[in-house]
Amino acid sequence: MLKRLRGAVLCAAALLFVLTGTAGAATFTPGSAGLDDPFFPNAGNGGYDVSHYSLTLSYEPGSNQLGGTAVITAEATQDLSRFNLDLRGFSISQLLVNGAAASHTRAGEHELVITPATGLRAGRSFTVTIDYAGEPSVVTDPDLSIEGWVPTDDGAFVVGEPQGSPAWYPVNDNPRDKATYDFSVTVPEGLTVMANGVLVSRASNGGKTTWVWRETDPMAPYLSTATLGRFDLTISKVGNIPSYVAVDPTLPSGNVFRKLPEIVQFYESIYGPYPFNAVGSIADDAKVVGYSLETQTKPVYDRMPDETTVAHELSHMWYGDSVTLTEWPDIWLHEGFATWSEWMWSEHTGQKTAQKYFDNLYNTPAQQTWFWTPPPGDPGMPADLFDGTIYDRGGMTLQALRQKIGDFAFFQIMRSWATQHRYGNVTIPEFVALSEQVSGLELDHFFDVWLYRPEKPTSW
Ligand code: TRP
Ligand code: ZN
Repeated sequence: MLKRLRGAVLCAAALLFVLTGTAGAATFTPGSAGLDDPFFPNAGNGGYDVSHYSLTLSYEPGSNQLGGTAVITAEATQDLSRFNLDLRGFSISQLLVNGAAASHTRAGEHELVITPATGLRAGRSFTVTIDYAGEPSVVTDPDLSIEGWVPTDDGAFVVGEPQGSPAWYPVNDNPRDKATYDFSVTVPEGLTVMANGVLVSRASNGGKTTWVWRETDPMAPYLSTATLGRFDLTISKVGNIPSYVAVDPTLPSGNVFRKLPEIVQFYESIYGPYPFNAVGSIADDAKVVGYSLETQTKPVYDRMPDETTVAHELSHMWYGDSVTLTEWPDIWLHEGFATWSEWMWSEHTGQKTAQKYFDNLYNTPAQQTWFWTPPPGDPGMPADLFDGTIYDRGGMTLQALRQKIGDFAFFQIMRSWATQHRYGNVTIPEFVALSEQVSGLELDHFFDVWLYRPEKPTSW
């Protein structure tokens, strides 16, 4: 009785508190320090949604010092007492939220914890202004590859998949939080800065050049770049959009980028309109990195690429950049699609067909488990994100689907996937559902065998 009564009194008091609504400091809570991605649980942060990054930076290659101001525009998705950004290293000289000084601390590997002077209301937009400087970092991934801001002999090779962007700016580093970007990067005169989107201006003053780039389409943070160095930059057009091709003059010259318009047109013919308003390539001598990346609008290559690699990265503009995974274990939605796209470019140009690629790879004996495992839909751990099987068996999965349901339904699926989810985030089950809907077939067994079972598929 007493207990009950006490409970009732407490409830009434709580209710009164809510009803009188003193804007309750009690209802403002911290945003989560991560978004619980199965592979990178601390990447990204909860409680807000970034709409725009404006990065005004300068870089000194000699001393490897990067510094400047990041202005982040975001909307609170809960009443926020506190929130995090992701940033590795650097010292912060000033941090403002909505123009007022905010206190901040650092935690873990890359958490910047910000407490604004007053709480941020759900649904309201706010800005974070951060002045920072220091040495950008090179991040070593679970698979031991490197990313982030990688110094080269004449500048830096800048890549962020899956977790390298906080190596050079404060960010909500999760592919679910896409945003638009402005980049203004000042470097010693003679160097070229290649960031995402269109070139707005370049101007020299006192031995320095400031390059301004603008990405107006939504972009996942890991696709951002500001790769810089000595480059021969060729600006032209592909269809109606500007094309920027930057080639490190120390690389063996090749003419592979002359194929760029043709490759883009081919993928447009099978996947639908090119999703962005700029296109290009950045070929840098950065062989220590060992891979290329589909940085949005202009992929970066760590050497002079071959035509297959250029086709691979350009196809990522549709599958990976515009249509992006929600969680990292679904990486097949990027790499399987880009590998199959390589084969289609080959087929289109009268070389080996996609089916021939499939047949050759399918000859790999089941005993060669390293080829078949892990299954492409379930890499199992972050160290296996970019395993060969995600690419090869991943591409085979699409070719097997094409075989099973026929070209008409298959190409409709590929095109709808790109169109319906343009600039969005997706999951493998959504692709399975679309495939079933378009083909009218029950495909659980098919996808289970190809994407999720560890052994070589034998019947589907
Ligand atoms: N996404 C890149 C591509 O296939 C590959 C990539 C990014 C990668 N990071 C990596 C490959 C790390 C190996 C290791 O175009
Ligand atoms: Zn790829």
